[in-house]
Amino acid sequence: MTPEKHYAVAVDGPSGAGKSTLAKAIAEQLGILYVDTGAIYRTIGCAVQQRGIKPRDEDAVRALLPELDIAMRYESDGEQHMLLNGRDVTREIRLPEISMYASAVSALPAVRAYLLEMQRELARRHSVIMDGRDIGTVVLPDAEVKIFLTASAEVRAQRRCLELERRGTPKPYEEVLRELNERDYNDSHRAAAPLKAAPDAVIVDTSALNFDESREALLALIRERVQ
Ligand code: DC
Repeated sequence: MTPEKHYAVAVDGPSGAGKSTLAKAIAEQLGILYVDTGAIYRTIGCAVQQRGIKPRDEDAVRALLPELDIAMRYESDGEQHMLLNGRDVTREIRLPEISMYASAVSALPAVRAYLLEMQRELARRHSVIMDGRDIGTVVLPDAEVKIFLTASAEVRAQRRCLELERRGTPKPYEEVLRELNERDYNDSHRAAAPLKAAPDAVIVDTSALNFDESREALLALIRERVQ
């Protein structure tokens, strides 16, 4: 892959499939920008929670959007930090209650329309690997590589439990599995840009793959398509 070639890799899939960890590692390896679009929805979810707004109240959320200054900053370790009106909310947006707020606000067409251009602009300026739910279908329909990353709900819940434990906010497996199924249902059944594989996406199931195997599978797909 020549470094000057401009390209985009879209990675979509349900929560806990390993999108962010894999995309981040691949971005580092290929020297391209990693964009975690879920973090942007989470930042809006965070703002909505802080203001005491009901996350399904589209009029109230729409009215809040112009007051928000949402920025992304990349630290030297490659970590994508989210700033909400100048405040670093990177850790806060990972709290489990914010996941539900993010899922609810992400179903609102007003929120999706508000974020669309921000995401496209990043892909115009940089070669990117962008992860989310609608990147290959809506945000970057012309992406050179489209991957739909998935794994069984049980495997994803186990991975999420480990991640929560590492963050110091452990939760029982049953609860994690229930919330994950609930979020998957919301994300796949909403009218606005639901989670689904683009017709030209390659489906990669990581249930039986470890991290290195998953990364190699994705890198091979990218190399095949981006010379
Ligand atoms: O990937 P994540 O769990 O951090 O995403 C948080 C929520 O945002 C998730 O419920 C789905 C939603 N989302 C979305 O609708 N579209 C995206 N491109 C990314 C995330």
